[in-house]
Amino acid sequence: MSTRKKIGVLTSGGDCPGLNAVIRGVTKASISSSKIDVFGILDGFYGLIKKKIIHLDWHKVSGILTLGGTILGTSNKADPFRWPQQDKNGKTKFIDVSDEVVKYIEKQGFDTLVCIGGDGTMAMAEKLSQKGVGIIGVPKTIDNDIWGTDITFGFDTAKSTATEAIDKLHTTAMSHHRVMVIELMGRYAGWLTLEAGIAGGGDVIIIPELPYELDIITEAVMHRSKSGRRFSIVVVAEGAKPKGGEMVVKRKIKDSTDPIRLGGIGHKIAHDIEKNTGLETRVTVLGHLQRGGTPTASDRILATRFGVKAAELCQSEVQGVMMAVRGNDIITVPLSDVAGKNRTVDQDHPLITIAREVGTCMGV
Ligand code: F6P
Repeated sequence: MSTRKKIGVLTSGGDCPGLNAVIRGVTKASISSSKIDVFGILDGFYGLIKKKIIHLDWHKVSGILTLGGTILGTSNKADPFRWPQQDKNGKTKFIDVSDEVVKYIEKQGFDTLVCIGGDGTMAMAEKLSQKGVGIIGVPKTIDNDIWGTDITFGFDTAKSTATEAIDKLHTTAMSHHRVMVIELMGRYAGWLTLEAGIAGGGDVIIIPELPYELDIITEAVMHRSKSGRRFSIVVVAEGAKPKGGEMVVKRKIKDSTDPIRLGGIGHKIAHDIEKNTGLETRVTVLGHLQRGGTPTASDRILATRFGVKAAELCQSEVQGVMMAVRGNDIITVPLSDVAGKNRTVDQDHPLITIAREVGTCMGV
């Protein structure tokens, strides 16, 4: 009887730079060190539901290290525990197809399923793990909001892209003596805005964890203007909200695993600043540019470390865990600890303190 192991790899949720580096890492390390057979599942959990898999060999994952996106495709809609189906009246109802998915995984003979994704993916992976599927989770997201890990890959690239955008806004803001508001992604966490805001020298940084007071922002912008700095850069997270107010929801995607899409707070703040100060104010919404492109060197290295470690774990008995960065080490944390949680910025985080020390207004 053959003892050769088989693993499946999927990427699920919103894409980010570095996914291909993980796919390459896990595949090459599995082939070279342990002769594990690696299969790629297409479009995240959709591929498990619709039975779409491909064999991954050395050749298929060569040349993808620097490529953004994912060669396997992804979906932030496919959830085996909540799969949309139309009834005979054309109405959508959601059914649980997880038992069929588990049977399919067993039929394929996968010893382990490597799930590369964000918090939604980890929650689904944990539920599959409860049903007996061997899972290794790999945390990814530009939002850097996954509980249990110091950092996720994708974040560094998005931060660089956002910082470059802020740099570019500086020159035009200075020339035209304008207020420039830039809205960044990050969902309910302010990591991307805080770090890119500091790196780009934003004059005002607004994050969801510190609900803002408009008067304080207005005062900061006016103060700069009066003291001869005739432009201001306001970096705002899509999840930011005024004190006592709500986040701005751009749209709801009802068949998505997380239906809420944030967006619009940049326009609201710009409108309010212009009204209160009389200064010409423009808005840039950076959007999906933050998710695209070539991963930075740091993201390539982290993603490769995760991929190689995943291959190593697939040879061991360890399952039901997510890999995480703790200091300089890659450790594992139980999926059951991760599911349903988010990592946001502490209100007294040292980065908030240093931003304030260099004169940045944090909106409160
Ligand atoms: O989680 C990554 C992310 O880019 C968030 O920052 C953003 O809120 C969301 O995904 C956007 O999702 P979509 O690609 O479905 O618009």
